[in-house]
This record gives sequence, structure tokens and C-alpha cells, in this order.
Amino acid sequence: MDSLSIKGGVPLHGEVTIGGAKNAVLPIMAATLLTAEPCVIHRVPNLSDVTFMAQILTSLGASVKFDGDTLALHAGKIKGVGDYDLIRKMRGSICILGPLVGRLRRASVSLPGGCVIGPRPIDLHLKGLSKLGARITIEGGYVRANAPRLAGGDVFLGGRAGPTVLGTANVMMAAVLAEGVTTIESAACEPEVVDLANFLKGMGARIAGAGSPTVTITGVKELHGTEHEVIPDRIEAATFAVAAAATNGEVSLLGARPEHMHAVLDKLREAGVRVERCGMALTVKRGGRLKPVDITTLPYAGFPTDAQAQMMVLMTLTPGISIITERIFESRFMHVSELARLGADIAIEGPSAIVKGGRPLSGAPIMASDLRASAALVVAGLVAKGATLVKRIYHLDRGYERIDDKLKSLGARIERVEET
Ligand code: EPZ
Repeated sequence: MDSLSIKGGVPLHGEVTIGGAKNAVLPIMAATLLTAEPCVIHRVPNLSDVTFMAQILTSLGASVKFDGDTLALHAGKIKGVGDYDLIRKMRGSICILGPLVGRLRRASVSLPGGCVIGPRPIDLHLKGLSKLGARITIEGGYVRANAPRLAGGDVFLGGRAGPTVLGTANVMMAAVLAEGVTTIESAACEPEVVDLANFLKGMGARIAGAGSPTVTITGVKELHGTEHEVIPDRIEAATFAVAAAATNGEVSLLGARPEHMHAVLDKLREAGVRVERCGMALTVKRGGRLKPVDITTLPYAGFPTDAQAQMMVLMTLTPGISIITERIFESRFMHVSELARLGADIAIEGPSAIVKGGRPLSGAPIMASDLRASAALVVAGLVAKGATLVKRIYHLDRGYERIDDKLKSLGARIERVEET
């Protein structure tokens, strides 16, 4: 198992290319199950989650070929039962459920487990598919869906924490091949949902309103193959933006789309960070003394929960009190105790973290617990005095392509080491 050894204190300088969005490419790969024709996807990031999804699609009978950052997929003949252990391992794989129900009118998919950031139920996914006529049972650890007749209907997908991203994706992917019209109310509006809808429209689907809380899908008889370029990863871009500000450097994010990042860029500016658009790049640099800001994570277009941990690191460096409230995943504060090892002063009060910032961080061995927490620990290591060892970085490789190489190209003193 690998770790990252980081010597902090170097301001990052230079430019970095932002890769394709993990949270767009996973449902788009699953969507290729909706047609028997070949599909091609470009700007596919080289991530372990993408490899997992490729293995899952292969276990369903599809052929999957990588060529650099291009993926050729062909789900000519498929079966409705996926590999239990493979699917159980990656929560995001639940998004094969909708396409299988859409195409085969049946599916058996292992129930995704919870994860360290929260219980992660799929009740809204199942409610949505039931509204389209699917009979759902849970047995033997499998979600079994059967829909001899799949018909459009009105589906409300609002839950305890607002809309569901993959729930919206699943219902959309079933509804594109259902009879008649489906209207999803309280749909998720994330750019990744819009990218999926654009991919489905490229296959011949009829979808209106993606990106708004009301999405209308008119079912068609069949879909055809298509070619698509995935949007850039706004969370990878947010992570590098915070790293630039935290290390007091200046970094250009090539290919980042500011129109997908309003909430993050707004909070960075409020904290005193300078963010400028230069052609196809976004340049980020510290514009003077940092100021404390309060953050509440919300569904899109609010502040993304996937950038909460990274932003918390910036606030540990900022003199004053910042309050960070997590409204999407109740226990998404696994990084707090590890940041405390580096000397940060953070107290948890219910859904909020109260950050008393300004105390310098010093390096130590720390442990990654989930994808975004590990990104935050890497940013903290880049700032902390002395050496930091971030262990269990397999979490990081799930969502960041070669982050150590990219940081090294910006001047960071960072090495991937084998854990002894
Ligand atoms: C997606 O997860 C992303 N994953 C997550 O990114 C991201 O944090 C999340 O959306 C929120 O933005 C992928 O796209 C692969 P949700 P998803 O369903 O779709 C509750 C990362 O770091 N809920 O929108 O699984 C749920 O518990 C990952 O890249 C229900 O109650 O999240 C949560 O509190 C982590 N019932 C809230 O809704 C349901 O049926 C939002 O979850 C579904 C969800």
C-alpha cells in the first residue's frame, strides 16, 4: 500500500491540466448499457473507480477498451446480474441499476454498503424506479428489480438532504426507454447530471430541463451509439485552487470551467483569494491576508460537500473563527482528527466544525479515511512545517489522477512511497 511523503512550505507555481470529471464519467459509462451499439467517451480520467466500473461492465457482458484517455464501450449482449463483490466495493456503481431496468426491464445489483462519510441509503432510487412500474425486492444482499412494463410517471426525488445525484441519474436512465413521459421533480442539478443528460441525448434520448429541479423525459423505443467528451472535474479544480491559496502560490488550472464552480470561487474570493479567468484557464493566487469565512454545504449550485474538507484546511491557516457546516453527509468530518495531529484547532458541534485558525501546522504521520479527506490531508501536508506522511492513499487514487506528479510539476516536494 502506498503513502505520500510530503515536505511542506513550498508555494505552488505553474499550470496544471484538469482531468475529466469522475462523477460524470461513472454514470456515463453505465449509460452505455442502454444501447447494443458501440460508444466512445473522451477525457476519461485514469482512476481506480473508473477501472472498477469497467470491470463491472465487463462482468455484465460489455466490452471495454482503454486507449489513453479514450474509452470504447460496447454492450452488445448483456445480462442483468452484476458481480456481487465488485459492485459492493464501489458505491457509485449503483448507477447501473437504472440502465439495466431501462434496457432489460430487470436487474439484480448488490446493495451498496454505507461508507465512512455517512449511511448512504438508496431509498429514493428505489422509490423513483417503482414509480415507473418496477417491482423492487431486497433479497440475499441484492436489489432485485422487475418491470415487465416500464411506463413514464411523476417522480418526486427530494429527500432529507435535498435531491439525490445518482438517484436522479438512475431514474433518468430508466425513463429514457420507458413508455410515455416521466417528470422528475426535485431533480439534482449538478453539472455531472447535465453531462449525463447530454450523453443520453447524443444516444437519441428526449430529455428537457436537465440542470433544473424539473426534468422531463419522453421515452423512446431504442437508443443508438454515440461519442462524447466528459466535462472537466470541478472538484479536482477546487482542490488545486485551495492548494494554490494555502501554499501562497500561483497556479493556472487549464480547462477548469468557472461556470461550474461559482460557490467555491465565491468563498475563495470572500477569503481574500484572487481568482481570474485567463483564456481557457483559471488563475488562483493568494491576494494578501486570508479572511475567515463560514461555509454550509448544500446541493448544487450551493457549496459542494466534496470541497468541504479542502476548504477547512485553508481555514485552519486563517487567523479567526470559521464555521463549516456539513448538511449533506452527517459524518463527513473524518479529516478533523488528522488535521489536529498537524496542530489544527477544530471543534465539532453537531453538523458544524468550529475552526480556530492561524496556528501554524507541523508535519506528522496521518491517515486518509476517504477520498476528499485524503485530498485535504495532502494540502495540509504541503503547508505544514517539516515532513508529513499521508497513509492509505488508495482513497486518493479513486478520484485524483496522478495527483503527486501534478503537484510535483508545480514545485511540491512530494514522493509516493511504499508503506512498510
Ligand atoms: C454523489 O453521490 C457523488 N458521487 C458524491 O461524490 C457527492 O458527494 C454526492 O453526489 C453529493 O454531491 C458520485 O457521483 C459517484 P446523493 P450520491 O444521492 O449520488 C441522501 C466524491 O467524493 N440520500 O446526492 O451517492 C444521502 O444519504 C463522492 O466524489 C437519501 O437519503 O449522493 C445524502 O445525505 C462522495 N436517499 C444526500 O441524499 C437516497 O436514496 C445526497 O446524496 C439517496 C441519497
